Amino acid sequence: MKVVQEEGKVLSNLEVAASIFLLDLRLPQAAKIAQPGQFLHLRISPLCDPLLRRPFSIHRTKPEKAEVSILYQVVGRGTELLSQKRPEESLDCLGPLGRGFTIPKGAGQFILVAGGIGIAPLIFLAESLLQKKGKGVVFLIGATSENYVLYKKELRCWGATVEVATDDGSEGHRGPVTDLLMQRLDRFAGNPQIFACGPEGMLQKVTQIALQRGIPCQLSLEQRMACGLGACLGCVVNTRSGYRRVCVDGPVFPASEVIFE
Ligand SMILES: Cc1cc2nc3c(=O)[nH]c(=O)nc-3n(C[C@H](O)[C@H](O)[C@H](O)COP(=O)(O)OP(=O)(O)OC[C@H]3O[C@@H](n4cnc5c(N)ncnc54)[C@H](O)[C@@H]3O)c2cc1C
Ligand code: FES
Repeated sequence: MKVVQEEGKVLSNLEVAASIFLLDLRLPQAAKIAQPGQFLHLRISPLCDPLLRRPFSIHRTKPEKAEVSILYQVVGRGTELLSQKRPEESLDCLGPLGRGFTIPKGAGQFILVAGGIGIAPLIFLAESLLQKKGKGVVFLIGATSENYVLYKKELRCWGATVEVATDDGSEGHRGPVTDLLMQRLDRFAGNPQIFACGPEGMLQKVTQIALQRGIPCQLSLEQRMACGLGACLGCVVNTRSGYRRVCVDGPVFPASEVIFE
């Protein structure tokens, strides 16, 4: 696989909810070839702090404008520095990297389950599914509170059915987003396919629900990364076919493969 390294130009970097930023980059090659579920590996500073690149899912692309967006949460040094990037500054970007989501033929309904910032890659997937299929996308958003419920209006406008769960009950169902998944599956007798991204506990529960009901499910996993290119083995996860590298064998894996530890 040829690795693309591009100098991205920051177009905007806006705080869309407390500590959540939307970064728009001019990144012509990546915008053209990125697939939902792939990620960019960003060198956040030209200095050696932080030394390692940081991985972020590709959140949206606009190939006609040569733009790629990242949706990220500030959690530490790297993301704090990223949040300080201003328009016209540049960012060294590797990618798109990794294996993204596979869209199976014949699925009757696509159920996307997002927990917190795990919504980032699923928006790209939802847009892509709706462009291809026009309907049949159910998007379940899990957030801590109403202030963190992102993209509800846009998703409805694009044609998705949207349901919301919040931890504090300030919007939608009070409780985990996996409650919505179970309710939806109880009501739907077709041939669904589940795609999920979010905290590990949520992914574990989604996997349990999918396996119990024999429903195909793909998970986008997060793991700390170093090289991002398959060389250092710093990002391995345990699977039924042995240890696999999240950066090149994933980040998207069939839920039936993943062993949670
Ligand atoms: C394939 C992939 C896609 C990702 N996509 C996104 C995205 O779209 N948006 C987003 O906000 N984040 C995403 N992440 C997580 C993001 O890479 C980390 O939050 C970021 O690297 C943290 O850097 P930092 O220097 O700010 O934090 P650090 O100072 O390095 O760490 C701060 C805290 O975050 C935890 N942490 C750091 N990296 C990870 C990680 N990879 N997974 C889980 N916990 C971590 C640490 O344990 C620590 O508690 C993704 C990770 C992967 C592997
Ligand atoms: S980060 Fe080096 S092998 Fe995945």
